[in-house]
Amino acid sequence: MSAKGIKGTSRPHDTYPTNPDLVRAAMLKLKERVPNFAPTSVLEPGCGAGAPFCAVACQEFSTIQDSVGVDLLPQSIAPSHKFVQGDFTLWQPCRLYSFVATNPPFTLASVFLRKAVQLLEPGGLVLFLLRVAFLAGVRRRDLWLQHVNLREVFVLPRRPSFTPDKKTDSSDYAWFVVDGQPAKGCARLTWL
Ligand SMILES: C[S@@+](CC[C@H](N)C(=O)[O-])C[C@H]1O[C@@H](n2cnc3c(N)ncnc32)[C@H](O)[C@@H]1O
Repeated sequence: MSAKGIKGTSRPHDTYPTNPDLVRAAMLKLKERVPNFAPTSVLEPGCGAGAPFCAVACQEFSTIQDSVGVDLLPQSIAPSHKFVQGDFTLWQPCRLYSFVATNPPFTLASVFLRKAVQLLEPGGLVLFLLRVAFLAGVRRRDLWLQHVNLREVFVLPRRPSFTPDKKTDSSDYAWFVVDGQPAKGCARLTWL
C-alpha cells in the first residue's frame, strides 16, 4: 500500500515492496491468533517483483503446496511460485485459494479485498496490509458492516518503510485478517 510517496507523489501502479520481515511478523501473529489455520495454497495479488507473501507463507506454513503471484506488470518472481500476469480485479481463476495475502495497491485496496474474499476456499483467510484509516469512512463502514467479515486487526506500532532509504510516509498501518463468513461488524484488535 503506501498512501503517497515521501514527497507526496504516488508510484506507477502503487508499486511499494513490503519488507519480508514485516510479512513474517504478521504471519507469526496470525498463527498465534488462529492456531488451526493450515492453508494448502497461497495467492498474492499484486505480487510485485519479490512476491514476499508467497515466499514467507511457504516458509511459515508447511501445509502450503501451491503458491501463485498475480501482477499487472511482468515480474520475475522465484520459480517456486507460479506467476500470472494480468489485472487481478478482472482475473477469473478456475480454482479457489486457502490464503490470499498481500500489500495491495493503495488505489485499488477495496476492490482487491472484495475480490480476494471471492477467491477464498471455505475456512480460508485473507491477510492485507492496509492503512489504519482504512477502518474509517462511510464507504468502508458499509464494506465492514455488510460485505466482508473483518476478523482480526494487528496494529503496527511503527510506520513501515517501503523505500530503500527507510523513510516512512505519514500513515499508520495494520494487518487486516478477513474470512469468508458473512460480515458480523466486529473484530478482535491487537498490536504486533
Ligand atoms: C504495493 S505493491 C506490493 C507488491 C508486493 N505484494 C509486495 O508486498 O512487495 C502493489 C503491486 O500491485 C500491482 N498492481 C497494481 N494494480 C494491479 C492490478 N490491477 N492487478 C494486479 N496487480 C496490480 C503493482 O504492479 C505492484 O506490484
